Amino acid sequence: MDAHARERIALRSRDEIARIREACLVVHDILRELAAAAVPGVSTAELDRLAEARTRARGAEPAFLGYHGYPASVCISVNEQVVHGIPSPHRVLREGDLVGLDFGVVLGGFYGDSAITVPVGRIPEAARRLIEVTEGALAAAVAAARPEGRVGDIGAAVQAHVEARGFSVVRDFVGHGIGRRLHEPPQVPNYGSPGTGQRLRTGMVLAIEPMVNAGRFEVETLDDGWTAVTQDGSLSAHFEHTVAITDDGPEILTLPEGATGVPPGRGG
Ligand code: MF3
Ligand code: CO
Repeated sequence: MDAHARERIALRSRDEIARIREACLVVHDILRELAAAAVPGVSTAELDRLAEARTRARGAEPAFLGYHGYPASVCISVNEQVVHGIPSPHRVLREGDLVGLDFGVVLGGFYGDSAITVPVGRIPEAARRLIEVTEGALAAAVAAARPEGRVGDIGAAVQAHVEARGFSVVRDFVGHGIGRRLHEPPQVPNYGSPGTGQRLRTGMVLAIEPMVNAGRFEVETLDDGWTAVTQDGSLSAHFEHTVAITDDGPEILTLPEGATGVPPGRGG
């Protein structure tokens, strides 16, 4: 962890959390639309245009567009791409692809951020398993986000879940606090030891985002300066939720209220 590690973490009121949830529900709805639109023959640039238009129609703005110079609204990372894939008219989805869709918006000054990984048509069993394990890792991480726990509990939960199932956890990218900015303290690594790191408290809002590789954990960045890929060329998956820590435990803001985050018959 670096110098950011002990920066003050904002504690949000119930009203602020409700406003973050409004942004998060826009993210959720548009991710569902993108998932449905991710079919063979569609380019990733078309998906990006769909997201931007739907965002503006909801009175929100894409959070990633222009962020540190990022040139699009969605990060779309296909197969061995891990995160931060740049949408392109030349990248046309094909049956069997594994597509990471990472998306955030700002609405009324509050941010929401979420990612899913979806299959294009029928995918190999190994790819399906990678999706399932990564989604299960996110569920385990969310369950660890409770008041009086520690940031390290979250990463430890991800790492234990993933490594027990023979996959590896990406180290080079972390989750983050979120609220008035896309990235706020603390950093939320997807590995670590239970009982370490900053204390979790009611009112903290975290974007928890495990990235899991089928092969080794190392990643590298392509010449476009953004797209992270697995060094060994293995498949990678990414899931992310924006989560509020409350007295009653974690609340996933990037799902409709009452949803559990784990689809029936999925997870673990
Ligand atoms: N969910 C990612 C993150 O939190 C996406 C942001 S990357 C951007 O880091 F630069 F494109 F915005
Ligand atoms: Co994020």
